[in-house]
Amino acid sequence: MSSLFTRRIISGVRQDVAALVRSRQQQIISRRASHALAVHRNTPENNPSIHFEFTPENQEIAKSIIAKYPAQYKKGAVMPLLDLGQRQLGFTSISVMNYVANLLNMPPMRVYEVATFYTMYNRTPMGKYHLQVCTTTPCQLCNSDSIMHAITKHLGIQPGETTNDKLFTISEVECLGACVNAPMIAINDDFYEDLTADGVVQILKSLQSGVVPKPGPESGRDTCEPFSGRKTLLSEKPYSGPDITRPDL
Ligand code: FES
Repeated sequence: MSSLFTRRIISGVRQDVAALVRSRQQQIISRRASHALAVHRNTPENNPSIHFEFTPENQEIAKSIIAKYPAQYKKGAVMPLLDLGQRQLGFTSISVMNYVANLLNMPPMRVYEVATFYTMYNRTPMGKYHLQVCTTTPCQLCNSDSIMHAITKHLGIQPGETTNDKLFTISEVECLGACVNAPMIAINDDFYEDLTADGVVQILKSLQSGVVPKPGPESGRDTCEPFSGRKTLLSEKPYSGPDITRPDL
């Protein structure tokens, strides 16, 4: 009798756990392959035989970046130079990494280690607009799922994919540091905040028509001040001038 009772309890627990797992799986919007950032495979658009070099303008910028570092530590410039290469080409290809390694006299493997560690370096070709949708807890509590759903439905692609016209790539990302304006997404270098599902579709339509909408909170509030208006620093500045300390101190 008692063993039948125990079996029923175990069976009930198993069903509860299975239901929990099923519900969690339904909530997961996408899965990212763990090898995606670290492994390079030659492709027609990303292989070492494709020539890359900075444009004359970027060569000047690279020189000014390298000049910020002592000569013996110029490898410290690896991150801004990779970023410069990514901005020029659209992604951080193997040729970009090799070019930067050569420029800084670094072993290429050291550059690969940096480029594959930081998710800001996109290792595959990207769309013109990189949509980074934050789905971490504060954004999720403010319904980031509806934002993701609106974007994927409007564009017809999933996170990790690029539209056929090469205009958009979607990424699902962790906190981008603008939780107080949740839910939010980043589009290239700009943040679009206090989003609604309809609002984000309007942003996408605007980009599709060639107009880049003004970044910032869609709600109309100034930066991250309270929705009911500013509450502090309401009085006049006690003095004016470039110094941050009072002139009598
Ligand atoms: S949780 Fe989305 S910006 Fe922080």
